[in-house]
Amino acid sequence: MTAIDVRNLTKHYKVPIKQPGLLASVKSLFSQEYEEKHAVEQMSFQIEAGEIVGLLGSNGAGKTTMMKMLSGILHPTSGTCSVLGYTPWERKQEFQKSIAMIMGQKNSLWWDLPAADSFLLNKEIYDIPDKDYHETLNHMVEILDVKRLLTTPVRNLSLGERMKMEIIAGFLHQPKVVFLDEPTIGLDLTSQYAIRDFIRTMNSQRKVTIILTSHYMADIQELCKRVIIVNKGTKLYDGQLSHVAEDFSDVKLISIDLERDVEDAVLASIGEVVGRDVLKVTLQVPRNEIPQAIAKLGSLPVVDVNISEIPIDRVIERTLAEGKVRVNQ
Ligand SMILES: Nc1ncnc2c1ncn2[C@@H]1O[C@H](COP(=O)(O)OP(=O)(O)OP(=O)(O)O)[C@@H](O)[C@H]1O
Ligand SMILES: [Mg+2]
Repeated sequence: MTAIDVRNLTKHYKVPIKQPGLLASVKSLFSQEYEEKHAVEQMSFQIEAGEIVGLLGSNGAGKTTMMKMLSGILHPTSGTCSVLGYTPWERKQEFQKSIAMIMGQKNSLWWDLPAADSFLLNKEIYDIPDKDYHETLNHMVEILDVKRLLTTPVRNLSLGERMKMEIIAGFLHQPKVVFLDEPTIGLDLTSQYAIRDFIRTMNSQRKVTIILTSHYMADIQELCKRVIIVNKGTKLYDGQLSHVAEDFSDVKLISIDLERDVEDAVLASIGEVVGRDVLKVTLQVPRNEIPQAIAKLGSLPVVDVNISEIPIDRVIERTLAEGKVRVNQ
């Protein structure tokens, strides 16, 4: 069954053109000029019930705008979309009860109240029966291990703890489709794992259909078989993640700051040099060769080392560069 059907969805924002200077500001009070920003352009895709799809794209690619239209927060400029048979922006009550939009960068909980109070409020808003409410809440509180924090005012929770509460609030009414916009942004690894596990559980146990955006490759690799890559508002790729990121799954980046120059050949003997800016070097190294690489770095004039996952932007850049563009409409 198709859960989400998007056809030619387009969103242009009208933004005022701001000329520099005071005179221009005064003039703009009388005649304001606008330009159109093409945030999402003719996007089409279908998602089956029970899928988890990753929406990937660089900053400003149009991901959040897309999710806002799918969840009914924004009207599109043109195009159509059906989520579980509803047109999102009509905001029918049954539609609102069937979906959730969870944004890592936005707070939806009452700041001065404990999360437990916000959950109760959601129970009223969504008209959740007592039994379902307690069962769902207990289950989620257990998986995310936040029982002792339920009575702490939200403003006193850490970022990771607050995000777990946001996620519980979003899933409490047992939505069938959930839009997760950067649910792990800024979180430490332990919280990222916990949230990832939770999302996987909700998908496998409850068959929740999920669209996920994240700037962390690990989130996407752990959760999504299929990805839709967007670039400047248009769809660049729609298909298996393995097709675009297979060879990235087992490598990490080692970024080093050098005290003085080191020959390229020496660096190349440690790992593939994928970035070099005078004394700043980025090496790509297979995960299982990291210890040896670190050991080799010991003999170089290194002042700082940082190991990280491959950023999603590299996957996107390469998809663009290699012309791996394949769009199944
Ligand atoms: N309310 C708005 N008014 C005008 N322009 C907007 C508005 N919201 C977003 N935009 C513009 O639309 C484009 C897409 O923004 P969007 O937030 O959807 O990107 P994104 O893919 O979610 O990026 P990020 O990864 O940084 O979250 C950007 O150029 C942005 O500046
Ligand atoms: Mg965004």
